[in-house]
Amino acid sequence: MYDFRPASGLPKPELYEDLLAAATGLTEGESDAVANMANVAALLFEFLPQVNWAGFYRVVENELVLGPFAGRPACIRIPMGQGVCGTAAASGETQLVEDVHAFPGHIACDGATASELVVPVVRDGQVTAVIDLDSPEATRFDADDARGIEALARLLSDRI
Ligand code: SME
Repeated sequence: MYDFRPASGLPKPELYEDLLAAATGLTEGESDAVANMANVAALLFEFLPQVNWAGFYRVVENELVLGPFAGRPACIRIPMGQGVCGTAAASGETQLVEDVHAFPGHIACDGATASELVVPVVRDGQVTAVIDLDSPEATRFDADDARGIEALARLLSDRI
């Protein structure tokens, strides 16, 4: 049995240290990308408060295709360059969106979502996937969240 749980009330940098340690342990030595993405999506959903969707879109033949996630059913295919996820994948840069309604071209999968953080996963200089987090709270994500998820993306680079 795995029993990774966040300690309550931790400052964000420490919460992300714990999250990274748990993700390292869960994916260590496992070569199946789907299994690793599924466990990490579950971990993100369990560790991060005020998050209504956590998961992956994978780059498949130059578009984004839904991967393992926790949350409500979501859009399956996103063209590169479109929405928050497509922008992160096309630019290779983290997208920290404080108010999704102010982001041109935002793709609404869950009407409850108010803010979003999308971080590309890069392997050998190519974006292979993005990690997407949605929150029902505006301005839920900040630079600490971006740094934490970017560290997770580096860890997962050759594990998904
Ligand atoms: N909002 C995203 C689409 C994916 S869902 O949030 C799960 C976007 O604009 O790319």
